[in-house]
Amino acid sequence: MTENEIISAINRVEVREGIHRTIKSYALRNNVLDDEQKKIVLDNFEKYCLAFNDGFVSPSSLFQDEKKPVVIEIGFGMGTSTQIIAKERSEYNYLCLEVYLQGFVKLLRDVSRLELDNIKLMRFNAVDVLARMIPDNSIAGFHIFFPDPWPKKRHHKRRLIQPDFVHLLSTKLVKGGYIYLVTDWEEYAQWMMDILNEEPMIRNRYEGFAPPAVWRPETKFERKGLDKDYRSSELWFERA
Ligand SMILES: C[S@@+](CC[C@H](N)C(=O)[O-])C[C@H]1O[C@@H](n2cnc3c(N)ncnc32)[C@H](O)[C@@H]1O
Repeated sequence: MTENEIISAINRVEVREGIHRTIKSYALRNNVLDDEQKKIVLDNFEKYCLAFNDGFVSPSSLFQDEKKPVVIEIGFGMGTSTQIIAKERSEYNYLCLEVYLQGFVKLLRDVSRLELDNIKLMRFNAVDVLARMIPDNSIAGFHIFFPDPWPKKRHHKRRLIQPDFVHLLSTKLVKGGYIYLVTDWEEYAQWMMDILNEEPMIRNRYEGFAPPAVWRPETKFERKGLDKDYRSSELWFERA
């Protein structure tokens, strides 16, 4: 890819044309790369990233070891837990989606330094990626950790976890594939539980909320919340 192609690939984050109106679950912040960040992107994009392409791809074919099942992480933030999980739970490949540019570049830098071959990054709206690039019955699991709670009632429609989105996730899962959600916003936890319970393609592996997965590290963000007495709630549902 040329320099211009790479830069335009990371500058476009959503599909706007056509009738596809997707959930606007994010607000874009600082969208400018400094010289050092630009170099990280140009040096590593082709090896570790994927540009949005309107057409279905085989998720496993994106990775060096095509035999590993593919997990998709949505909204990895700075990617702190992403890279720890990819190292510790290396029997999976991870397709990691985030629109926040500073976080995207941070994880790209870390992944290239650590030479992790089981992570691919995309800077694009996850709703578009799932709907337009990921075939049904192809994904082993979804990780969505601390999605923005959009606490004000008038913003609830911006929450990522909505019935249509959960249905979309469910159709992408292989049989036995999982959806793993974590939030420290109590009311959003119950909102998620109600929506996931209503989706006929998946069922709760536990009675109510799930115990924390041993391989999910605590993030700084989570620690700050715990210090303020916020409790994390975890949900683990599987495709029947
Ligand atoms: C509150 S942060 C949590 C980040 C991280 N998972 C953590 O635990 O620290 C939620 C992230 O989800 C991202 N996000 C929200 N909607 C998204 C979407 N539709 N596609 C991709 N990323 C999204 C936001 O940009 C934001 O960085």
